[in-house]
Amino acid sequence: VSTAVGAGPTRTIRIGGHAYPLHLGGGLIDALGALWSPLAAGRGVLLVSDDGVDALAARAAASLEAAGLRVIRVGVPAGEASKSLGQVERICRAAAVEGLRRDDAVMAVGGGMVGDLAGFVAAAYQRGVRLVHVPTTLLAMVDSAIGGKTAVDLPEGKNYVGAFWQPELVVMDVTALETLPARELACGFAEVVKYALLRGSDMLARLRDRPPLPGPCEALTDLVLECVEQKAAVVASDEREAGPRATLNLGHTVGHGIEAATGYGDGYLHGEAVSLGLLAALRLSERHEGLHPAVREVTREILDRHGLPTRLRPDVGVDEVLAAMGRDKKAQAGALNMVLLAAPGRPLVRRSPPLPSVRAAIEELRG
Ligand SMILES: NC(=O)c1ccc[n+]([C@@H]2O[C@H](COP(=O)([O-])OP(=O)(O)OC[C@H]3O[C@@H](n4cnc5c(N)ncnc54)[C@H](O)[C@@H]3O)[C@@H](O)[C@H]2O)c1
Ligand SMILES: [Zn+2]
Repeated sequence: VSTAVGAGPTRTIRIGGHAYPLHLGGGLIDALGALWSPLAAGRGVLLVSDDGVDALAARAAASLEAAGLRVIRVGVPAGEASKSLGQVERICRAAAVEGLRRDDAVMAVGGGMVGDLAGFVAAAYQRGVRLVHVPTTLLAMVDSAIGGKTAVDLPEGKNYVGAFWQPELVVMDVTALETLPARELACGFAEVVKYALLRGSDMLARLRDRPPLPGPCEALTDLVLECVEQKAAVVASDEREAGPRATLNLGHTVGHGIEAATGYGDGYLHGEAVSLGLLAALRLSERHEGLHPAVREVTREILDRHGLPTRLRPDVGVDEVLAAMGRDKKAQAGALNMVLLAAPGRPLVRRSPPLPSVRAAIEELRG
């Protein structure tokens, strides 16, 4: 990310009956007070962050206070383990003790973990208060901050307790990505490649020709914006995931299988598993939907250049991956739905693709 700072594009996101502004640009963390105060009803802001983004959260708090808002800061440890009902209780009680009211707001400053946790607190505290998303990872910018899904995990399963809750404002400061570890940046990029496949060959060609991440601030802003527009368009057409929204699962069926089979954590990160899942979905698409093999070749090249895996480690068992896919929350009653592509920009949901093909596509990931 270059250090060019300045306000970038602004969009109005419309989902269901709800519309809210989204601002993108360099340095916008320091403009949060100016961006939120005209929209705020109450003066209170419960600022939730994790200890990996302390410096960004401190800047956000300073900006809000300079605009005359009252900031209540609550921190949680970084890591998925904080996306828990225990933390929901802790945060809600801190809010209650500090007197956060119905017309005040919750602001999530951090990655998707903080966004999901703080978003759920916003949906539940006093039956719902205003929410502002300030995503600070690439994944959170292109994926979790848009769409209105919030959740925490149970020991029994990820995202098992949650709610749909749309924000009133989303602010993306791409210069925040300067401090994001390269591996996290690459993971977010796997979702970017997913959007390119869903959007069409133009975006795919631009990814092929663009320098590896992060690249210049302006170019990154444009890339994030394109992903946000793609996700918002799909979600707007299908807020509660009845139809088109399912296409956002491209690469995620096999991806989740690989994540689960390698035990989350020290195996593949989510984006790394999605990288492999995308390649498997494209292989299946060649076999069943007539997708041109050049699409998979270009995709592999893009993923590889961004430090994402394109070959499955030999110690990962195909049977384990298949078994984990069957246990996935989204696998409905025996049917394994997969998103395939007839061409870039033309996704379709295929009910129960033949198991031998699925197995072969995963086996081929071993190269
Ligand atoms: N709601 C949705 O629609 C949706 C969609 C996709 C993913 N998710 C959720 O998002 C979560 C994953 O999000 P994530 O990938 O952003 O991970 P994360 O939020 O766990 O962040 C990863 C790490 O990066 C650190 N970090 C964040 N911003 C940073 C910055 N600018 N500089 C340096 N370090 C920074 C964090 O402290 C953390 O250690 C999962 O819980 C997943 O379920 C939700
Ligand atoms: Zn994902």
